[in-house]
Amino acid sequence: MAVCGDFVRQLQERQAYIDRHLVRFMPPAGSYPPVIHQAMHYAVFNGGKRLRPTLVLEAARAVGGEVEKALPTACAIEMIHCYSLVHDDLPAMDDDDLRRGKPTCHKVFGEANAILTGDALLTLAFEVLAGSASIPGLEPVQVMKVIHEVAVAAGSQGMIGGQVLDLEAEGAEISLELLKDIHSRKTGALFRACLRSGSMLFGVEDERLKALTRYAESFGLGFQVTDDILDVEGDEQVIGKPVGSDRKNEKATYPYLLGLDEARRVARTCIQEAVESLAPFGPEADFLRNLAHYVLERQS
Ligand code: IPE
Ligand code: IPE
Ligand code: MG
Ligand code: MG
Ligand code: MG
Repeated sequence: MAVCGDFVRQLQERQAYIDRHLVRFMPPAGSYPPVIHQAMHYAVFNGGKRLRPTLVLEAARAVGGEVEKALPTACAIEMIHCYSLVHDDLPAMDDDDLRRGKPTCHKVFGEANAILTGDALLTLAFEVLAGSASIPGLEPVQVMKVIHEVAVAAGSQGMIGGQVLDLEAEGAEISLELLKDIHSRKTGALFRACLRSGSMLFGVEDERLKALTRYAESFGLGFQVTDDILDVEGDEQVIGKPVGSDRKNEKATYPYLLGLDEARRVARTCIQEAVESLAPFGPEADFLRNLAHYVLERQS
């Protein structure tokens, strides 16, 4: 299924909406001490696709929640994602110089400030999440559950665990099973938290939560396999990050293990499965369906 122009416009509207609110939740770039706040703004406002916050808001929409009440959760998860990118690019990790089409945070602000920028964004994310408890109409118990969900997803059993395994696998021959596990942790866990938290805020029923979780897991794997493919055959100008970074670091990736054709097939299957998972939903989940197709066809 081809992604239509109308969907692209809707995605851009959501990206602009998220950017307007993200800035609200952050200390101004000029506030004291200036270097950390400038670096935080540099790491966040640089043309990210905002897929994760969009997913939080669309999960809220799919379960009939008031989308604007999910904004702090959406923005907090984007902050965690941005922090993970700043650290992922550090010389001790993937050692990349380009991110979202600009020099990476450590290239501009130095390594120590890049580490601290990540730390500050992660901490701010939980400050913002906790603020959801005072939004009228949201149950503090549901907010607590969401905070727990996001913490587990970002931590050593989720994203950080995946990053550790990803580094350990450099230069090693690993099984497809282990690679799938790495991808599901380093990338999948946060996507899972997006869909779950965006719906949990509104007391989603079990069957729908399961469906959204399945969507997220398939979407997350399809997304990371596509990211691996773009690292091989993407256009640096369009993806805004270095092509060939994975080979440079001898990363375990789907194209490396299976070849490009098979990797493409896996990505397609994941996206099909993601869409099928939304069977319990009607048109309220159409944007999520389209987003899954977009992730497969994306060039950036
Ligand atoms: C990049 O994620 C990091 C991965 C998990 C592969 P995105 O491709 O969503 O990055 P931005 O936020 O749009 O820059
Ligand atoms: C990163 O995966 C996943 C994160 C948790 C940041 P990659 O290392 O493949 O992401 P890119 O390609 O640098 O964006
Ligand atoms: Mg990496
Ligand atoms: Mg990387
Ligand atoms: Mg990559």
